[in-house]
Amino acid sequence: SAIRPLAGLTVTISAGGTREPLDPVRFLGNRSSGKQGVALAAAALDAGARVRLLAAHMEVPAPAGVELVQVETALELRKAALHAAADSDVVIMAAAVADFRPADVSGTKIKKRDDVADPVINLVRNPDILRELVEVRDAASRNQLIVGFAAETGDAGGDVLEYALAKLHRKACDLLVVNQVGRDKVFGEDTNSVVILSRAGSEPQEASGSKSDVAAAVIDRVSAELSRVVP
Ligand code: C5P
Repeated sequence: SAIRPLAGLTVTISAGGTREPLDPVRFLGNRSSGKQGVALAAAALDAGARVRLLAAHMEVPAPAGVELVQVETALELRKAALHAAADSDVVIMAAAVADFRPADVSGTKIKKRDDVADPVINLVRNPDILRELVEVRDAASRNQLIVGFAAETGDAGGDVLEYALAKLHRKACDLLVVNQVGRDKVFGEDTNSVVILSRAGSEPQEASGSKSDVAAAVIDRVSAELSRVVP
């Protein structure tokens, strides 16, 4: 497009799902396809940004023109994200990061053995990268817009937006893009329907359509927030 609102800016985007190894051949993973993150990277390129894509496992290729950093685990993504954030104007955490990883990674393939009890997998918590990015930014008084994603399943007692607002304040990111999962699944699909919540307090904004349409809406919103913060 002719309007390039992010020209001169660096945008870091994480995408895909992390894989947490159990042994040399097995991992704990998730259903993230990377499609929404890749669409965001394409939209940010369209808007004129320099784009770094921190790619965990994805089922789609990275768009041409991004600086690609491939990662496997949450800990690798954390390192790459903290490094990339140091000179980014915008960070968008669209990756599905494993909340837990196996406590022990076997150096050799775990075997089934009749003379030994079946194995039990102990898990430990991964760091919350989004939360940490916000803390690092604030400690450095850096002028940076940080965007999180949330996949919420509404349930009997709870309203999706209510959960999402609590998450926005807990994570303290500037924008939270919320999609409701479960009823019609989002993973691997080509379409999406989201609500964009802003910590600055503006009205929740809905966006739906193809993942490209949703990405364009998120990038438009990022551009609008930036022009408000940096006149
Ligand atoms: O807490 P929850 O996993 O729902 O938060 C989702 C958001 O937090 C996403 O933006 C995701 O990329 C990010 N996240 C993270 N580090 C984690 C877990 C999630 O940065 N360990």
